[in-house]
Formats: sequence, structure tokens, C-alpha cells
Amino acid sequence: MTKQEQLKQEILDKTKEYYELVHKPQQTQEFVSGTSRVNYAGRVFDEVEMQYLVDSSLDFWLTYGDYSKKFEKELSRYLNVRWTFLVNSGSSANLLAFYSLTSPLLKERQVKRGDEVITVAAGFPTTITPIVQYGAVPVFVDMELTHFNIDTTQLEKALSPKSKAVMIAHTLGNPFNIKAVKAFCDKHNLWLIEDNCDALGSTYEGKPTGTWGDIGTSSFYPPHHMTMGEGGATYTDNPLLQKIMLSMRDWGRDCWCESGVDNTCGKRFGMSFGNLPKGYDHKYVYSHFGFNLKVSDMQAAVGVAQLEKFPSFVEIRKKNFKKLYDGLKDLKELSLVQTQPNSDPSWFGFMMTLTDDAKFTRNELAEYLEKNKIQTRNLFAGNIIRHPLFDTMDLNKDYRVVGELVNTDKIMNDSLWIGLYPGMGNDALEYMIKCVREFIK
Ligand SMILES: Cc1ncc(COP(=O)(O)O)c(C=O)c1O
Repeated sequence: MTKQEQLKQEILDKTKEYYELVHKPQQTQEFVSGTSRVNYAGRVFDEVEMQYLVDSSLDFWLTYGDYSKKFEKELSRYLNVRWTFLVNSGSSANLLAFYSLTSPLLKERQVKRGDEVITVAAGFPTTITPIVQYGAVPVFVDMELTHFNIDTTQLEKALSPKSKAVMIAHTLGNPFNIKAVKAFCDKHNLWLIEDNCDALGSTYEGKPTGTWGDIGTSSFYPPHHMTMGEGGATYTDNPLLQKIMLSMRDWGRDCWCESGVDNTCGKRFGMSFGNLPKGYDHKYVYSHFGFNLKVSDMQAAVGVAQLEKFPSFVEIRKKNFKKLYDGLKDLKELSLVQTQPNSDPSWFGFMMTLTDDAKFTRNELAEYLEKNKIQTRNLFAGNIIRHPLFDTMDLNKDYRVVGELVNTDKIMNDSLWIGLYPGMGNDALEYMIKCVREFIK
């Protein structure tokens, strides 16, 4: 062993020791009913995440590097897709996915300003933000209240000659009706972006969600299925979209050399582009108005360790869902989310909606649970159109709405969800069931 290797090993051994002293007691803490807080989500990690992180910090490469490449390769393998692009958040993944559709390289299928993108108003804001930021027009379709996803019977009504894409999430891990959405997109030649940020590990007809459409997106923010602190990814099987996403993620450049590498194409000074002088350095030729959405290799290092554990996380989420479902299914005051047919969800949360039998409000239930140290969440924005960010948006110019969004409003008013993340043991799940039942009684 060289001196360098020996020093590194000592540091990594000390990192493990630190984890065991400082973090392990929290990760493995016993649950005390009524005293322990039941968070809706949280990081689940051990010494390996910290060791990879330290290892990458000692390399001090800092930007996209070996761990990033490994993560992209491993996630591609897990999802069985050809290309994955690591980015710095799920919101950035949505930004990159949507903006890729605006590339002139897509010719007649390019999404232009004023074109329409079909989506839903119940969900996370940054699924629709890129559409608005670019100047395309979101068209909001209502939800259905059985699986809490887009009401596919409304899709044809949403269509117009300007429709170019559908961009929607798989709500809290439950796949939307992919067959119906995909058939609609194929029939009308529309792009499909699957916001898979809350559904990594879910499958539909045995195939991972996020890989049915043209592009899928993930988030690795701490509450999600796995984490790297801040992080996200896009994935695709489409060679043209992969070329565009690489360019747009990395400043809009035409060149595809990795950081620190020159002349991958072998023709760096031998090509012609636009109105540039012949032989202009390919490294500084730009084919898109792009971004820089890359992660640091330290974030990716944490992700690599999380991905190694990921299949076990998914199994625990499924088991926890079943436990909550079985414990609450007889309550006539609550309508519980139903699994989308033909799917096997990697659940993000456990969604409940008040029925007409409920003699209480959603907020009363939420307050009771919070008072008993159980964290609750609404379905994010509820109905995004009712938020202040829409105050200056003009209906039928900046956005369109199909019908009345009655179910979307029902979700905004009467739904909430609780967690089921892998850090929860049986005792925490039983405590949640007990508290919900107590409140209703
Ligand atoms: C469905 C969905 N899309 C996108 C995002 C954004 O991800 P990030 O927080 O990593 O930006 C979230 C965040 O929770 C989400 O739930």
C-alpha cells in the first residue's frame, strides 16, 4: 500500500467510526409511541454513503466525474434504458426534459412558443413550470379520484391543433394509466414526458415507469425514494433526445467531450458550423440555448451508494403500503388510493381522501395527526391554478382548462397523505393506523 492509499483507508475507517457514533444511533433508534416523531420521509443511509462521499471529496475532482458516470450507468441498467443524465434536482430534470422538446433538431415536432402541453393542476409546481417559462401553453385536465392520476377520459377534449406533448407525474408512486396515455400520444404524434420523481421503482406491465414515454425524470431530494441531497436525472431511449439533452444540460454546446477531455470527435479544428469561420474550435460551438445543470461528483457518490440499496427500499415501501392499507381500509370516512391496474407501485406516500361520511375536515384530521407527532402532507400544490403565481396568467391565452377540475379541487380540499418510507418500522406504521382510527372514532 502506498502512503496515499494507507492515509485514504485510515480516513475511510474513521468515517465509518464517525457514522457509527453519530448517525447510526439515529438511523436505528427504537420507536416510542407518542414520543418519537413519525416523519413522512427521510434519508436512509449507512457508513457506505459517507465513505463514498469522503472518497470523492479526497479525489477533489468536484464536478461531473467517475461517480457521476457510474451512477448514470447503474441507473440506466436498473431502468433498462440506454441513456441517463444526472442533473442537480428533479426540477432541473423537468426543465431539461421539457426544453429538449424545444430543440430545432426535432424539426416539425419541435415544441414552439404558443404550442400546447397537456398536464394536470394537482401536483408539484415544477412539472409545469418549464412549460410556462418557455412560453408554451399548459392545458389542465382533471384527475380521477381512484388512483389520483390524470382522468384519461378527458384527453381527447384537451386536444387542439397546437397540442405537442403530454407532461405528467405518476402521483405518489402510483402509475397513471400509461396504456391510455401512450395510446393517445401515439395516435396524435405527441411527446410524452413522465415525471417519475415520486415513482422510481414502480412498474407498469412489468416495465419501469419513466421508460414508457420519450423522457422520464427523477428527483433525489432527501424525501424521495433515494437521495443525493440535491439531485435528479433524465432518461431516454431516443438517440436524438439524448444528443439534445447532453447539449442542453452542458451549456448548450455542440461538443460532447467529458469535463477535462479535449477532441473526443477527433475533428476539433476541422469542422464548419453556422456562420463561424471554418475550423472554429468545436469545444466552443453552441447548438442550443442551454443550461448548466450538472451535479458535483460528491452528490453522485452518495447516489451510487443509495442505488446499491435501492431495490430493498422499494420492497419496504410496498410492504409498508400494504400494512397501512390493511389497517385503514374498513373506514367509511376515508377513501384510500387504489393501485393502478397492471402496475406494481413503489409508493412514495399513502393518500387518503374524505368521503361524504366524514364529519370532519381534512385540516382537522391533519392537525390531530400532527399534534400526535405524525407528519402529514397535502398533494403538493393541490390545484396549482389557484396559487398566486397564476394571478397574472390569462385563461385561454397563457393556459387552458378542460372542464371544471372538480376532482382536482376535491384533492386540494379533502386529501392528505402520510409517509411509508423505508426508515419506518412496523411500530410506527401501527401507531399511525391507531391515531387515524382514534381520531375518526
Ligand atoms: C412530482 C415531482 N416532480 C418534481 C419534483 C421536484 O424535485 P426537486 O425537489 O428535486 O427539484 C418533485 C419534488 O418533490 C415532485 O414531487
